[in-house]
Amino acid sequence: MKLVIDTDTGSDDAVALMLALGNPQVSVEIITTVAGNVPIDLATENALATVALMGATTPVYRGMSKPIIRELHTAQNVHGSDGMSGAPIPRHALKESGSDAVTQLIEVSKKYPGELTLITLGPLTNVAAALLQDPHVLDRYKDVYMMAGSPEGWGNVTPSAEFNVWCDPESFKIVLQSGKRLTMVGWNISRDAAVIGAEEEAKIKALGTARAAYVIDINETLAIFCRDITGLPGFDLPDPITVAIAIAPEMIRRSEFVSMDVSCSEEMRGTIIIDRRHTAPPANVDVIWEVDRDVFLNSLYEVCKDSSNPSNYKGVSF
Ligand code: RIB
Ligand code: CA
Repeated sequence: MKLVIDTDTGSDDAVALMLALGNPQVSVEIITTVAGNVPIDLATENALATVALMGATTPVYRGMSKPIIRELHTAQNVHGSDGMSGAPIPRHALKESGSDAVTQLIEVSKKYPGELTLITLGPLTNVAAALLQDPHVLDRYKDVYMMAGSPEGWGNVTPSAEFNVWCDPESFKIVLQSGKRLTMVGWNISRDAAVIGAEEEAKIKALGTARAAYVIDINETLAIFCRDITGLPGFDLPDPITVAIAIAPEMIRRSEFVSMDVSCSEEMRGTIIIDRRHTAPPANVDVIWEVDRDVFLNSLYEVCKDSSNPSNYKGVSF
């Protein structure tokens, strides 16, 4: 399976990259970074550090530094000022491969037409920019999985909006209108099946590996945000479960193919609109409503268990 991952590398994105990079059945062809959780420099650096931690050499391309129209509002209040809870990010020798992420999203689709699964973990700014340059770019991808949206209206950045869509709603609308059949892994799935509570955290820590320590350390600020603001019984991992579903879609128990739009108004910015009337526009998004939580947790434990790569953590250089 060939993947392309677009990420605004905050702490949960980093775990998502680990799930992909640590899976022997998967080849991550390129990683593209986008401003969202953190400014683009940090999103790119956090992606490079995670690639290095995993002992990988996947090329990382820097992308858009702000939403397509609006000013950038980050989620550093959720993930920490560096996006990684201030954890002692390991030193490494990796450098970004270029600052042309949008072009690379187009070029890699031409290199592997019909073979690639695109997974988006941040605002859709890079993908929208690629569509504006090449309206058929997504047609050359086999599948597109987006960690995006609150399809039932339970938001995390406003009462009704999820951050990736809220941060750049205009880009999300451009992607919805692309004509490509899309899959949405909304924040509902993260709340229902990807919360790392005390029991799951203890299991990860008990593995005793550098990867396990990294996962817990970088999500410390997210855990506090979840406790104090979203009221979840632990820290949730929306991006990792999106990667898990893209790799193993058999874990989907229930989904619905719907006609979806998004509000770009100020008062309802980022709110997902699903039209189920007979007069609705053609369906464009498979919304996932239920998944097998155990498949996700087992894939997370599996990648944390492995300490085969030469790298280490807690400040030891790579
Ligand atoms: O709302 C959750 C999403 O916003 C995740 O992708 C998280 O990393 C943040 O970007
Ligand atoms: Ca993200």
